[in-house]
Amino acid sequence: MGMKLEKVVPWGRNIGEYRSMFLLDDDDMKKKIAGFGDGPASFNCQASAQGADITSFDPTYSFSAEQFRKRIGEVRDIIISQMRENAENYVWDRIKSVQELEGIRMSAMDMFLDDFERGKAEGRYVCHELPDRLPCDDGTFDIGLSSHFLLMYDQLGYDFHVAAISEMLRVCREVRIFPLCDLDGNSSELADKVIEYFGRSYKTEIVKTDYEFQRGADKLLIIRR
Ligand SMILES: C[S@@+](CC[C@H](N)C(=O)[O-])C[C@H]1O[C@@H](n2cnc3c(N)ncnc32)[C@H](O)[C@@H]1O
Repeated sequence: MGMKLEKVVPWGRNIGEYRSMFLLDDDDMKKKIAGFGDGPASFNCQASAQGADITSFDPTYSFSAEQFRKRIGEVRDIIISQMRENAENYVWDRIKSVQELEGIRMSAMDMFLDDFERGKAEGRYVCHELPDRLPCDDGTFDIGLSSHFLLMYDQLGYDFHVAAISEMLRVCREVRIFPLCDLDGNSSELADKVIEYFGRSYKTEIVKTDYEFQRGADKLLIIRR
């Protein structure tokens, strides 16, 4: 059964945030990159405009740009008022206020919306739900990314994460997951178990980045073949 629009809370980050979270340098940006759970982030749109080769996968890509736009309008004020209530959980150095954050997120999502239908036709936005098999050959991508999705939601469970990351590693030579914490910014037993599992067959590395907006959410997990 497909995803229900009323369950979707669209909220997307931009290329500057993606490059900081995932430590994507200029050489990385020349590689073939897949984003898993990219939702309405503007990374694909902005990076593609600079000539990069990016494919984004997300189950919400079954919706149209108009459906996304309507849903963003419905949830925007709710998310912003929750951020105001929980402002102490965030680090307000790069982004100085909730108002500035709202502007950054809306601008990212506007870029995504303006690009979405064309990008879908070009095959840059693909409707796909992990851990289902991806419509790609083994080793298609150099780098696979997951921002604010994998390892954050304990309720998805260990088996889901092992299956999802295994499928990502089938099509990507390297997977980067940010942040390495749960929704409250705490380290999790789930992440420890998942890292231990992949550490048996892959090289795993945890890198502290200088991107920390949510308190405690500053670590990147890299899994390489
Ligand atoms: C919090 S959003 C993050 C959006 C984007 N990565 C960013 O950082 O701006 C989480 C995303 O994960 C997607 N998602 C949820 N379940 C998924 C699944 N099983 N497979 C792939 N993506 C999924 C959601 O649709 C949503 O777009």
